[in-house]
Amino acid sequence: MWPTQREVAAGDVVIIWQTRELIQPLLITPGKDFNSRFGHYRHSDLIGIPYGSKVTSRNGRGFIHVLRPTPELWTMALPHRTQILYLADIAFITSWLDIRCGSRVIEAGTGSGSFSHSIARTVGPRGHLYSYEFHEARAEMAREEFVRHGMQDIVTLTHHNVCKDGFTVENMADAVFLDLPAPWEAVGHAKKALRKDRLTRICCFSPCMEQVLRAVNALNEAGFTDICMYETLLRPHEVQQLPTPLSLDNVVSKLKRLEKFREEKRLRQIANSKRKREEDSDIPEPDKRARIGEPDTARDEGGSRPPLISDPHIPPKADDEVNEATVSWSRVCHEVRGHTSYLTFARLVPYPAETSSNGETEGLTTTSE
Ligand SMILES: C[S@@+](CC[C@H](N)C(=O)[O-])C[C@H]1O[C@@H](n2cnc3c(N)ncnc32)[C@H](O)[C@@H]1O
Repeated sequence: MWPTQREVAAGDVVIIWQTRELIQPLLITPGKDFNSRFGHYRHSDLIGIPYGSKVTSRNGRGFIHVLRPTPELWTMALPHRTQILYLADIAFITSWLDIRCGSRVIEAGTGSGSFSHSIARTVGPRGHLYSYEFHEARAEMAREEFVRHGMQDIVTLTHHNVCKDGFTVENMADAVFLDLPAPWEAVGHAKKALRKDRLTRICCFSPCMEQVLRAVNALNEAGFTDICMYETLLRPHEVQQLPTPLSLDNVVSKLKRLEKFREEKRLRQIANSKRKREEDSDIPEPDKRARIGEPDTARDEGGSRPPLISDPHIPPKADDEVNEATVSWSRVCHEVRGHTSYLTFARLVPYPAETSSNGETEGLTTTSE
């Protein structure tokens, strides 16, 4: 799945990262150009550069990052043909369905292939993904992508209506994932496809509660157990750089300095008004009247005595308060990002061992858990 060599080669699918909101796949084709609002690039200029490179545009307008695809990046970059699954749901489903290296998994429908890429990587060459899609054009596009991404040995894509015609495999899947408008119509077929020699799992992905209820009824009727439903929501954090908070000792000494400064200011004000009163009592009456409301410029501007009140409003900073270090700070955003779907999970416990006509117990064992 996808190239592993260090440098970009002709024919590779790369991920072009322009901004967080603008991430797109690009098939490297010599002779072609890539144009965006971040500049003009020739595909041939990208051949031979190491994956992860930052490339400046030919006209100096901007730059792009050229990344090696991963299922996570593919989900962010893929061409949308349908609604798709995102990482939070994919990770949760993978864990709940106990999908691992070597698992045999069924998914319907394939849609835009977001879930398929992730599952193909998880099951690897020892496992297999059976993917079903009833929309012909979508099935064809997904098939081409799977081949281009080197997944053709891991994924089998069938153009098929699973609600009507069921699945092409029987008694062999470890897990089934249904992302369909009416998953309840496929639950009986899913049961047939699941292997009966061990515990297996199913998940129905439905955007509305009505669909969940119908899926739950169908799962109950088909004999699935441990039915439960989850909704995964993203809680983004807002991260900022702030000055490092002062230590407690710093705060205490700052408060003490402030208190001292206020006290000195109070004493200065008392002394000033006392001096003013004394001066005023020395001045003859007419002069006093003339001076009402006028600033004492002669005294304040370079007179022999200091200004009456020389009080800066902010106390001086001590050396230990000069604080240029910053600290990263994160806060949960109030807005919780939207609901995609409800995930209904259930398990299918192996059939009880049956006694054959010759009296022997046929081997259905519970080896998985
Ligand atoms: C929401 S999309 C699946 C998205 C996919 N999980 C992804 O992550 O990209 C649902 C797909 O199911 C397909 N579909 C709907 N009913 C189906 C059926 N009965 N059999 C097979 N595919 C079906 C639709 O054509 C559509 O492409």
